[in-house]
Amino acid sequence: MTDDSAPALPDTFLWGASTAAHQIEGNNVNSDFWALENQEGSFLPERSGDACDSYHRWPEDLDIVTSLGLDAYRFSFEWSRIVPAPGKVSQAELAHYRRMVDGCLERGIAPIVTLHHFTNPRWFSDLGGWQKSENLAHFLEYVEAAATILGDVSHVVTMNEPNMLAMLAAMVAQGEREELVAGAMPPPDAEVSARVIDAHHAAREVLRRASDAQVGWTIANQNFQAEPGAEEVAREWGWPREDVFIDAAKDDDFIGVQAYTRVQLGPDGALPIGDDVERTLNGWEYYPAAAAEAARHTAELAPGVPILVTENGIATADDARRKDYVRESIAGLRQAVADGVDIRGYFYWSLLDNYEWGSYAPTFGLVSVDHATFERTVKPSGAWFGDLAGRGGVAP
Ligand code: NOJ
Repeated sequence: MTDDSAPALPDTFLWGASTAAHQIEGNNVNSDFWALENQEGSFLPERSGDACDSYHRWPEDLDIVTSLGLDAYRFSFEWSRIVPAPGKVSQAELAHYRRMVDGCLERGIAPIVTLHHFTNPRWFSDLGGWQKSENLAHFLEYVEAAATILGDVSHVVTMNEPNMLAMLAAMVAQGEREELVAGAMPPPDAEVSARVIDAHHAAREVLRRASDAQVGWTIANQNFQAEPGAEEVAREWGWPREDVFIDAAKDDDFIGVQAYTRVQLGPDGALPIGDDVERTLNGWEYYPAAAAEAARHTAELAPGVPILVTENGIATADDARRKDYVRESIAGLRQAVADGVDIRGYFYWSLLDNYEWGSYAPTFGLVSVDHATFERTVKPSGAWFGDLAGRGGVAP
């Protein structure tokens, strides 16, 4: 049990929920992930299809955020919709996303916009994607277009989990896509890592010229923990994979920390999770200390840069267990804040049960979605989370 004695978080602390376009909008037919899902013999067990139909039902989603009493909503723009072909910006799609931003502002919700959340336009991948330096210009063209409608948003995340993006690039390059499912991760592709870091810095410049938003990016905090004797493996597998990205974020207005679990390492690599250890629906260890550990680690590497926990949550069918996880996680964050770590917000992943990159089975949501009727039902944990937020994170 986590110690729950730390004081409440201040009124200025942002409480929100996160989503990403491809996981909730439905029918992102121009994205490279859609192509992967729909290719013949795809290794992915499920396709995204209509997802949560949030492309059309976003006002209802925002109403739910309001009804839960949250201050903020993190969502992403879909690059492949805004730029359906090289050099061709869709004004209609820009207007669509601007309506979403306005929808947030009208409801008093702070919009936290992610520009790149894993998916690329199919045409971008066909051109060689992040593997090719000349393609950086395409990303910046998109950022220039998006920046025109971001003047008054609260925060912009240029890229979601660039360290994951670079690992996925390494896998695709090695033709090891099946291992994505198995969870084995090669080190990030070094060239792609350098390129996305450049992309982030260049995008930040564009945004700072066009917008008053706080600009940052979000890092997947892996939390690899070495058993005695596994220090060498840990050096190869461990924190350095994300440290290079946190290091590159030192001039940001914030860093987004995203943490869910830990992975323990032995001399031969990742240790299997013991049968006696509780696992979540996507096979991860139930480990609510993850967010606070990640925030502390990030603060050590990037002192002085404010932290937002932009994702943390649990895939479970046991909604009471979701409350336990969040309660423990936030108790840890309160303690970290009491110890001087500058954490300014917490975003539960995810608002909705959504498409978890290949499957709808891992249900992370505060809200369930009927994938035939798209009816949304707030789970008890959703209302409870809103209440917790209102109490500065102190559980009753
Ligand atoms: C990280 C990713 O940003 C998000 O897309 C994913 O669904 C969650 N973690 C859970 O795996």
